[in-house]
Amino acid sequence: MAKYNFDCVIDRHGTAAAKIDRLDAVFGRHDLTPLWIADLDFAVCPQITAALQKRLQHPVLGYSEASDAYWNAIIDWNRHRHGFEIDRSELAFVPGVVKGIAYAVNFFTSRGDTVVIQPPVYTPFRTVVEGNGRKVVENPLVATAEGYEMDLDGLERLIEEHHPRMMVLCNPHNPIGIQWSADDLARLASICRRAGVVVVSDEIHGDLMLEGRPHIPFLSVSDDARAIGVMLGAPSKTFNIPGLVSSWMVVKNPELRKPYYEWLEANEFSAPVLISTIGAEAAYCNGEEWLDQMLEYVQSNIEFVVDYLAANIPELRVVRPQASFLLWLDFRGLGMCQKEIMNLLLDKAHLALNDGTMFGSQGAGFARLNVGTPRCVLHKALDSLKTAIKGCEDEA
Ligand SMILES: Cc1ncc(COP(=O)(O)O)c(C=O)c1O
Repeated sequence: MAKYNFDCVIDRHGTAAAKIDRLDAVFGRHDLTPLWIADLDFAVCPQITAALQKRLQHPVLGYSEASDAYWNAIIDWNRHRHGFEIDRSELAFVPGVVKGIAYAVNFFTSRGDTVVIQPPVYTPFRTVVEGNGRKVVENPLVATAEGYEMDLDGLERLIEEHHPRMMVLCNPHNPIGIQWSADDLARLASICRRAGVVVVSDEIHGDLMLEGRPHIPFLSVSDDARAIGVMLGAPSKTFNIPGLVSSWMVVKNPELRKPYYEWLEANEFSAPVLISTIGAEAAYCNGEEWLDQMLEYVQSNIEFVVDYLAANIPELRVVRPQASFLLWLDFRGLGMCQKEIMNLLLDKAHLALNDGTMFGSQGAGFARLNVGTPRCVLHKALDSLKTAIKGCEDEA
């Protein structure tokens, strides 16, 4: 068995890494430890780079066709990892999950229509909808003692009042890392089907389940879900290849799928990209060992943060994620407003975390920490945060 080293610090400067190169534009300074954009600071598994290098040895990079091996890799992965069956006819390439959401918004809704999202949630759920002249209607998650849950009664009321055409679901949920239960997903599907609401389920974090929990694909939960669901998946977060822009979509219901896939094809939105398909196939066929070790490392980073905060900064709370490498940090115990929290992180601790309000107004008092980084980087970051908080307390 290969043993991968996730402790190695890799300098990403000069590699067009958005996480670094966008610091100035987003945070107004570049001297920050980047713990924000959701990619990993780990080297990808070597079989992926080997497959890309092998193809690049051939000097012609002409128009290409996705191979059967590529499609089978996606199908086999889903069957093997999630017990989820996909027929080849149900599958299409999409150049990025956010673009997949955008295509669905454009095809299934019209300008002025309403689309439901459940904040706090990944920012593009709102920006894609609003950027296309549709209206967002919010069904906020409800905070509980353990974390958050969906407000399905609220969803029913909201659908009656606003008559949305679509809902964009995050499963598992970013930024909080919740895998929704089969019961909740089935109830959501039944509510939406009754009202003719198409559900776009973004499952980009679905392979990143922690502590051996199962991922529950939306389309696996019920006939209702299969009747109205458009599922988006990708190897990008799973294997740290978002730069290859390789995602896919599944629509089970032929009445939804046929016109939609014809529209995608007519516009060449679903035309596979050579380098994406090569990377994805190599990842799904050879990356499982790397993924399992990476998830163990991420889990130990989560434990590290939880223990560190309990021992050193007990005012901060962590919502323990069930999936992925993002931590929803609760700063409300410090009694600061959002501006003060961000000043503390940026100007005092020199850390770039995502401002919780990026995910919706419900994120006030929170910031999102990406723990997909070597332990020593995380340790140093937490030390800086501790010192910065101590400095503020001393000033007060
Ligand atoms: C829930 C969710 N969807 C989509 C994306 C981005 O996907 P893509 O880069 O394939 O557009 C992210 C990235 O952080 C995400 O967290």
